[in-house]
Amino acid sequence: MRTHYCGELRSNHVDKTVTLCGWVDRRRDHGGVIFLDLRDRTGTIQIVSDPQRTPESYQDADGLRNEYVVQITGRVSARPEDSLNPKLPTGEVEVYADRIELLNIVRKQLPFQVSTADTESVREELRLKYRYLDLRRDRMSQNIQLRHQVVKAMRRFLEDEQGFVEVETPMLTRSTPEGARDYLVPSRVNPGEWYALPQSPQLFKQLLMVSGLDRYYQIARCFRDEDLRADRQPEFTQLDMEMSFMSQEEILHLNEALVSYIFKTVKGIDLPQPFPRLTYAEAMEHYGTDKPDTRFGLELVNVSNLLKDSGFKVFSSAVASGGMVKVLPIPGGNEAISNVRIKPGGDLFKEASEAGAKGLAYIRVREGGEIDTIGAIKDNLSEAQKQVLLKLTGAEAGHLLLFAAGAAEVVNKTLDRLRMVIGKELGLIDPDKINLLWVTDFPMFEWNANEKRLEALHHPFTAPHPDDLDDLKIARAQAYDLVYNGYEVGGGSLRIYQQDIQQQVFEAIGLSPEEAQNKFGFLLEAFEYGAPPHGGIAYGLDRLVMLLAGEESIRDVIAFPKTQQASCLLTDAPAKVDEKQLKELHVASTYKPKT
Ligand code: AMO
Repeated sequence: MRTHYCGELRSNHVDKTVTLCGWVDRRRDHGGVIFLDLRDRTGTIQIVSDPQRTPESYQDADGLRNEYVVQITGRVSARPEDSLNPKLPTGEVEVYADRIELLNIVRKQLPFQVSTADTESVREELRLKYRYLDLRRDRMSQNIQLRHQVVKAMRRFLEDEQGFVEVETPMLTRSTPEGARDYLVPSRVNPGEWYALPQSPQLFKQLLMVSGLDRYYQIARCFRDEDLRADRQPEFTQLDMEMSFMSQEEILHLNEALVSYIFKTVKGIDLPQPFPRLTYAEAMEHYGTDKPDTRFGLELVNVSNLLKDSGFKVFSSAVASGGMVKVLPIPGGNEAISNVRIKPGGDLFKEASEAGAKGLAYIRVREGGEIDTIGAIKDNLSEAQKQVLLKLTGAEAGHLLLFAAGAAEVVNKTLDRLRMVIGKELGLIDPDKINLLWVTDFPMFEWNANEKRLEALHHPFTAPHPDDLDDLKIARAQAYDLVYNGYEVGGGSLRIYQQDIQQQVFEAIGLSPEEAQNKFGFLLEAFEYGAPPHGGIAYGLDRLVMLLAGEESIRDVIAFPKTQQASCLLTDAPAKVDEKQLKELHVASTYKPKT
């Protein structure tokens, strides 16, 4: 039906007769000459129909409306000098339509303008309800095609250059240990029993290593019933990998080559290798987060030692009770940030209190190193302490120092949030910058205050650092995350393959041998038949593509995403089902609608 795609045509096609198919993006009538923008997934091309040159098509062109589906045959012409469009890849040419075949019309009023020329921002709910129309729009179409390019690059690199084998793992399975809530599927043939949809293929990929598959990958759909955000969906896609007989260094090296290959292939960008690294401890110390955006400075400074003996009770008692005092030094902050914003009621105060901080102490540094603050701190700092403070924070005239004091978790969370808000506000973040880094040496466990027990930070199969085996409770893990401009885009680890260490880890998280057997018995048993040393990683494909596309939500790089309420506005899922279906599944709902 067609000879070319719309977006392909260039000057070298001039004088060729082409047949194109697509949608009418826009139709303009310029004094008797009709211009159409014809669109397909590759772009748009200008079609011309005029009563003199193309009398046969003129009537047909006149009857066309936006989003009609047409087949057009015509001759490619160079555009006249004064109508070149340098913004359009096809902007040097146009097609004189000899014949226009109307393939289909639009029968209803369009819920929004689809045209690539239309920059109107459409409500997301409307876009999601009519996603098939939304995906016709250039930006979305480009995003989906970019996603395909990324996956293709992954496959090429892993399969053709590194000998990885793609294996599909089950969707109907048992609960996996990634720590989120499961999506459950009732079994009809096994009354009262449930499958869980996989939170990741973690256990199966480890089993594949026991099978000797050596290098596995999968573009894997994962399901997690957790609170949704712009970078989280209930079902999302991972590039999931596992490999045997490789050290952590070798795994990181291979993954740097993979990520660089993706950037080179889809963006033409050469990433410097090796990627920078921070240990978890360093990341927390300097940025207050394990996924720091390192495109800009504003690093935190720990002043606990300096201020633990200051007369300012808020600081000294924070340190005395095992917490810390940290500063976010902001060059030029004196001018940019008013007291009103830092004090109760202000936006920065609000950010801090949402992170759990009780208050926000501050110091303004004036000419000659004089400091200005709300009473208490200044009166309780000795001259020597003041000098050390200025030195530690690198503060000069014009600096604003924001302080957070309290439990480490709250202090870090507070200053991380403020750092990001202020970094953006002061224009310190270059949107064109690409900062990828590894964060390594995560702790094995974190304290779950609700359940009063340690839990695995990553998952319970993560191998402890060999130097830390004496006290597993405070051991570092051989785990690594890949962070891209402040987003965690990937994470993985070396796995435990020796039974005694696995047992110790289960003990540390309070999992009895019976419970472990019940949950992961099949994996533990597999490990008794000769498990190779192995490790792996999984990338959040949606996040990676979101960042490569310059989008702010992963919904914009997923063809049919869910809303924040985990529903699909297009199909209206989730939805009620027949009583009969429930009965067959041996399920009854306990839900009582509010009256
Ligand atoms: P992890 O849980 O860190 O590791 O997941 C890997 C990556 O998946 C992405 N991700 C998500 N993306 C969108 N929506 C979500 N709800 C979501 N949750 C996670 C993140 C994350 O870095 N089995 C291990 C990997 C391994 O150890 O090999 C795992 O799943 O980008």
